[in-house]
Amino acid sequence: MKKGLFLSLLLVLSIVLAACGGSTTGTGTSEKKVLKMATSADYPPFEFIDTANGSDEIIGFDVDLAKALAEKAGYTIEVQDIDFNSLIPALQSNQVDLVLAGMTPTEDRKKSVDFTDIYYTAKHMIVSLEGSSISKIEDLEGKTLGVQLGSIQEEEAEKIAENVDVKIENRNRIPDLVQEMKANRFDAAIIEDTVAKGYFEKDKDLTGFTLADGEEGEAGSAIAFPKGSEYTEQFNKALNEMKENGELEALIVKWFGGE
Ligand code: ARG
Repeated sequence: MKKGLFLSLLLVLSIVLAACGGSTTGTGTSEKKVLKMATSADYPPFEFIDTANGSDEIIGFDVDLAKALAEKAGYTIEVQDIDFNSLIPALQSNQVDLVLAGMTPTEDRKKSVDFTDIYYTAKHMIVSLEGSSISKIEDLEGKTLGVQLGSIQEEEAEKIAENVDVKIENRNRIPDLVQEMKANRFDAAIIEDTVAKGYFEKDKDLTGFTLADGEEGEAGSAIAFPKGSEYTEQFNKALNEMKENGELEALIVKWFGGE
């Protein structure tokens, strides 16, 4: 009898505790910490403004990936658009918590920010107008070559200029590079293959060729955080989980098509 009373008291107590616990985790989940992500939304299918749907939402592979990783690590993400060249300064001044922008973890950038492992690898392409007869590096002799300001394509162009007499011009946004080619101010531009292919599909006036591997034919993408950020490790863990369970591959197929 005494034991029975004790047990029922215990039961009541545990129900009360469970109810309290339930309500705190309930508000806990709706109060997930919001991380500020920056990107340069000029880079379909990595990141672009969803104009087709008449919205101004930033969508793309990087946005989906960021949201999936944040979900796993217990955060939510808010995305903002910044010119590519200003992304690293935004991290350094702690205006944003992370950057996903198809950004390559170069040795130089590693001095200013921390990176996760690489989540996707692209190649450099020389893009030009159909009929421009630019089909190899040497054809750039005497020509004007456009690159995105602050990108590794800018460094790639400088390497080309060591051997070929080419004039390098930079612009803030990828669509500006295409515009300049159309206006005949640029003869060609260096753009990553994944992004260039999107242009080729929509625009039959454009053509291009891939730079040979070797020195620095490749451009990997990784997630950047301010130096010493606690999030780097958490996101890297989530990223490796997504690599192993096939979720990353599914996002690659969704945005880049089967390859
Ligand atoms: N992977 C290249 C880099 O890190 C280009 C990235 C450009 N990204 C963009 N969202 N525009 O320099």
